[in-house]
Amino acid sequence: MAVLRFATTPFLDQKPGTSGLRKKVTTFSQPHYLENFVQAIFNAVPALKGGLLVVGGDGRYFNDGAIQTLLRMAAANGVGKVIVGRHGLLSTPAASLLIRRHGAVGGIILSASHNPGGPEGDFGIKFNAANGGPAPERLTEAMHAASQVLQCFYCCDNQDIDLGSLGRSQLETMQVEVIDPVADYAGLMQTLVDFDAIRDWLRAGHRVRLDALHAVGGPYAVKLFEDLLGATLGSVRNAAPQADFAGEHPDPNPVHCAGLVAHMMGAGAADFAAAFDGDADRNMILGRGCVVTPSDSLAILAANARTLPQFRDGLPGVARSMPTSRAVDAVAARLGFDCYETPTGWKYFGNLLDAGRIALCGEESYGTGASHVREKDGIWAALAWLNLLAVRRQPVAEIVREHWASYGRHCYSRHDYEGLPLAAGEAVMATLRGKLAALPGQMVHGLQVSLADDFSYTDPVDGTVSGQQGIRVALADGSRAVFRLSGTGTEGATLRVYLERYLADVAQHAQPAQAALAEVARFAAQLGEIEAHTGRVRADVVT
Ligand code: G6P
Ligand code: ZN
Repeated sequence: MAVLRFATTPFLDQKPGTSGLRKKVTTFSQPHYLENFVQAIFNAVPALKGGLLVVGGDGRYFNDGAIQTLLRMAAANGVGKVIVGRHGLLSTPAASLLIRRHGAVGGIILSASHNPGGPEGDFGIKFNAANGGPAPERLTEAMHAASQVLQCFYCCDNQDIDLGSLGRSQLETMQVEVIDPVADYAGLMQTLVDFDAIRDWLRAGHRVRLDALHAVGGPYAVKLFEDLLGATLGSVRNAAPQADFAGEHPDPNPVHCAGLVAHMMGAGAADFAAAFDGDADRNMILGRGCVVTPSDSLAILAANARTLPQFRDGLPGVARSMPTSRAVDAVAARLGFDCYETPTGWKYFGNLLDAGRIALCGEESYGTGASHVREKDGIWAALAWLNLLAVRRQPVAEIVREHWASYGRHCYSRHDYEGLPLAAGEAVMATLRGKLAALPGQMVHGLQVSLADDFSYTDPVDGTVSGQQGIRVALADGSRAVFRLSGTGTEGATLRVYLERYLADVAQHAQPAQAALAEVARFAAQLGEIEAHTGRVRADVVT
């Protein structure tokens, strides 16, 4: 076995987005593309030399080969030890846990999250830092900078490592330990959630359906819901991870999980359902006859925090990303804890969690999580909801209705315009930015604007300022429209328009979200001149 040095030339597009470097498999398959970025990580994080690295992925197409390359390069770059999930699998929250538990320098997670997989699909690679959370911007910038001046990468010439059997082996001076990807995570969950209470609730005849969407959440869900909690075998659907997610979109939202939604709306629906994305950090929560929006899910978990053993002592504070509805703000205000508004991206919660300012956080993009790891955690969110159902002994829909009756309803929807030419997406944002200064206090398209800005965030812990994080336009009646471009796509631009309307009156709570939001939607489309810039009369995906 030898360490080889390969001369290479930079790729100009290796700039990590919201969640690492995410590109088409065809892009990653170019000679040296993966190697270059991996070397850029090693160059940007010198502490990896002699240090501990956690490695795993969501099992998508390209994962197997990429992990072998990664291990060869880790050995060649002098990494001390690698902990890797069996078959190269680790969910994102499990990787976060392992980094923290073993005091690793960081972790490399191979995933494109909720994006489709397969030879024509997407692949991704992200670095998580020693706190278990997504690399902060200064680190991703350092990686990008390293990739731009790269002249060579280092790689060993060994055979593939057997990742099918647990145990230790050696690669040059690097130790490789293959571990059960589920064990530590399942152990942690039992310290956070009341498993006995959930077991009783299930024994009382309640039924659950968990959909892993053919992704890495499957083994975690089977272990936790079927093996440990005793849910009926088969409660976890689509549990075997497949490289192409069976050709489906591993994205837990009502559009991509239409079958699950139909089941929960029909006769014979389970009492509770949840779905998870490609790397099992996202979740969608459903009850019989209802889908809970991620914003409401966060607010309801916050309002009921003390029912969960993890939050027995109450919450120090909560946080939500800026486009997430303000339902959780209402809970924080009433219960007397802090509520932070951060830019989109889980990394912005890291400092608040590390500093103990918050213990629960969430995003409209089907992300919910807490201080036990530094990533959002889909399986945990489903367990937290089951804990709530087991304590309150009420149907999901009733809990939601009662929450709205108590706090008012923050009616919410996201309208996505997908696959736009980059220039069209940017033109909408530029148009909005151009109008911002004149908007506050004005009547615009029939509605009174109370606030309009381009969201800027100053991290209260380290003072870092992140500007241009999305356009917020709040209306005098408590409604809001937010605009931003997606940071996770791999082609063109996706314009996201987030719509919110506050309904205080219980008599109005039962109306369908789109009907309640129709006026704000029209206002937003006109303000952004969306049709003129994109040629689209309506959004492609409405969730
Ligand atoms: C990833 C991040 C989330 C973020 C989401 C935004 O899933 O982990 O924290 O909310 O991307 O995606 P977008 O496509 O809207 O940039
Ligand atoms: Zn994900």
